[in-house]
Order: sequence, then structure tokens, then C-alpha cells
Amino acid sequence: MSKKITDKVLWVGKTDWELKSFHGDELSTRRGSSYNAYLVRDAKTALIDTVWHPYDREFVSRLKETIDLTEIDYIVMQHNEVDHSGALRELLREIPGTPIYCTKKGEAILRGHYHEDWNFVNVKTGDKLSLGETELTFIEAPMLHWPDTMFSYLSGEEILFSNDGFGQHFASESLFDEDVADAEAMLYEAEKYYTNILCPFSAMVAKKVQQILDMKLPLKMICPSHGVIWKQRPELIIQKYQQWSAAYQENQATIAYDTMWQSTRLMAEAIAEGLRDELPTLNVKLMNAARDDKNDILTEMFRSKLILVGSPTINNGISYAISGLLEMIHGLKFKGKKAAAFGSYGWSGEGVKLITDHLQASGLEIVVPEGHRTLWVPDAEALETCRKYGREIAKAL
Ligand code: FEO
Repeated sequence: MSKKITDKVLWVGKTDWELKSFHGDELSTRRGSSYNAYLVRDAKTALIDTVWHPYDREFVSRLKETIDLTEIDYIVMQHNEVDHSGALRELLREIPGTPIYCTKKGEAILRGHYHEDWNFVNVKTGDKLSLGETELTFIEAPMLHWPDTMFSYLSGEEILFSNDGFGQHFASESLFDEDVADAEAMLYEAEKYYTNILCPFSAMVAKKVQQILDMKLPLKMICPSHGVIWKQRPELIIQKYQQWSAAYQENQATIAYDTMWQSTRLMAEAIAEGLRDELPTLNVKLMNAARDDKNDILTEMFRSKLILVGSPTINNGISYAISGLLEMIHGLKFKGKKAAAFGSYGWSGEGVKLITDHLQASGLEIVVPEGHRTLWVPDAEALETCRKYGREIAKAL
């Protein structure tokens, strides 16, 4: 079923209420998602993006209820990861030869994925495609978040189609932000999306947002490829992206730990008390890396000025959950954050150094190079030492 956005623009995507993880299991999507595709109907008709492969037949079948497919003059592929290009083969079975407008890198990615000699038309920033009264202008946006990504601006309707940029994994029957009852959850998902998808490319995000602002485009809506459309206040998500892409932090510390027999948990809690002793207004979040959602932990870390990571030493190393989390921290390339490590041990005790080295290699500023270790189970004195460690770290913030 299509949904009307304006007289000339329809939403023809797929809302995926079932989706619980994305990129395999790399990103949790507990509130589902959507694959937004758009149909612009003017003198000429353009389809912007498609949907994920499992929904290809459903997508084409529902598109047929909206339009005679032979009336589609152009397909615009803004980004060719499979969640957007997955229905192309099914669609082109019906309308072979329809030109696909995409960047040069987009063509390479489509060829690499589908091994088809489709009718590609390469576009770059500033290229235009007239549809009649309206016109699409393409704006390359490399690494937001793939090399092929581009945005498309529709004059007349004053819509920016932004693909993954400004998106959220947020399934909703509401098409527009203004109709979403749980606006807080929607914004949280936008931030979680930014943290886990776009954060490594923040420098490029900042430049692209500024470039778009400098273009002074009249803007009524931002239509991303996931989640709801920013219609009520498109400037809100633009402001958020400006903030998030500029070494974002709030007055928050996140302590992520794993624990085998509760010693490292006790340490984490005592360190948290020490932080708050020194900084009573600091928002301190404790999260168990083995039990809490890894992407929620990363989102809390993204909001933080301080990241503390704790693990018991196990087999001369660190726990599975902390190891995975450290790998993800490394990949997200956080900027301007301080960090330190802690953990319990019984004999060899290398865990804290391993964590510290990893945090340092991830570009975080290590507050206490030696970290803090507790032998066996912390007693009252050891817990007081942990509180002191927390207070010392807080003084360095
Ligand atoms: Fe929504 Fe990068 O695909």
C-alpha cells in the first residue's frame, strides 16, 4: 500500500515490524525498521530506492497496485546496500532496461552484488534530472555510510531524500515525525542509528550537513530510507547531526563491565560511587556487557565524556563480551572521550592492561594508565580503594 507524502510524492516502502537485528547481528533493532522507497509522479516518474530482498515480491506486487510499472521512467538508487537494492532484480524482471541513476561507485556495488548488466546512468553532485514541474538534484555523500551514497533533492516539493542519513530503525504506522506518539523513542533510535552506523564517519557527516545548509535549499521535509519522515521539524534532526558529528558528549559516564563471580561488578559499583562522590551531577550508567544490549551500551558511551571498561582476567585475557565490545568501540572511532580500565583477578591479572591498550588504540584518552585491579573478591577496604579510583578519575574530567 502506498502512502501520500505530497501531491507528487508517494511512500512505497516496506515497514518491517519483525526486524530485530541488522547487519547480521551487529546492530540490534528492537523497534523494527522500514525500508523507505519513494515514487515521484510528475510528467516523468522516478522511483527512489527499493526494499530489502526478502520483501522484493511483496514490494513489486504492491507497487503494481499503485502504478503501471511501465510508467516508471527512472530508478534512482541512492545507496546500494541490500536493504535498499534488494528488490531491483525482481523489479527489473518486469521493466528491463529502465535506467538506474546512481553514482559510479553505486554502479560498481550493484554489479558486484547482482552481476547484471543493467542500464546504469552515473550521476555526481550537481547533476539534475527533470521530472516536469519538479527536478531532482543529486548530492554525493560518500561514506554516509558507504562510498556510493548520495542524497537527492526534489525542487518544487522541497524534499531532501537522504537515504541512510537522518534515518532511524523505528517501525511505525505513522509516516511523519509529527504523528509519532513516542517521540522520545524515535529520537533515541535516531541517536542509536547515528552511533552505530554513522559515528565512524562523523567528520564527513559534519561537512556534508554544512554543505547542505550552505546550499540554502528550501526544505519542507527530509525523507530518509529508514524510519519516519522528518516533516514537523526537519531542522531538529539537522541540529542533532551537527551536534552528534562534533565529538558529542553529555555530562555522563558509562561503566561497562563483565563479571564471573561478581567481583568486577562490585568494583564497578564502587567506582560509580566514587565518581558521584566527586561529581554529584554526573549521570553514571552501569551496564553489564554480557547482559545489556551491546548497541545500547555503545549509544550510552557515545553520550559520555568518560568510558570505563572492566573485566575479570580469564585465561590470560578478558571476557568474550568485553572483547567484542572493545572491538566495536575501536570501530566507532569516538572522539574526545576519556577512558580507564578495571577488573578483578586471581593470579596472572593481565586483563586490565589488555583493556587499557585497546582503549588507547581506539583513540580514547586514558586517565589512569595502570588502571585498577582487585585480587580475588573485594573486601570493604578494596571497595574503598575502588571508590578512591572513581574519585581520582572524576577529578581528571
Ligand atoms: Fe540502509 Fe546502508 O543501508
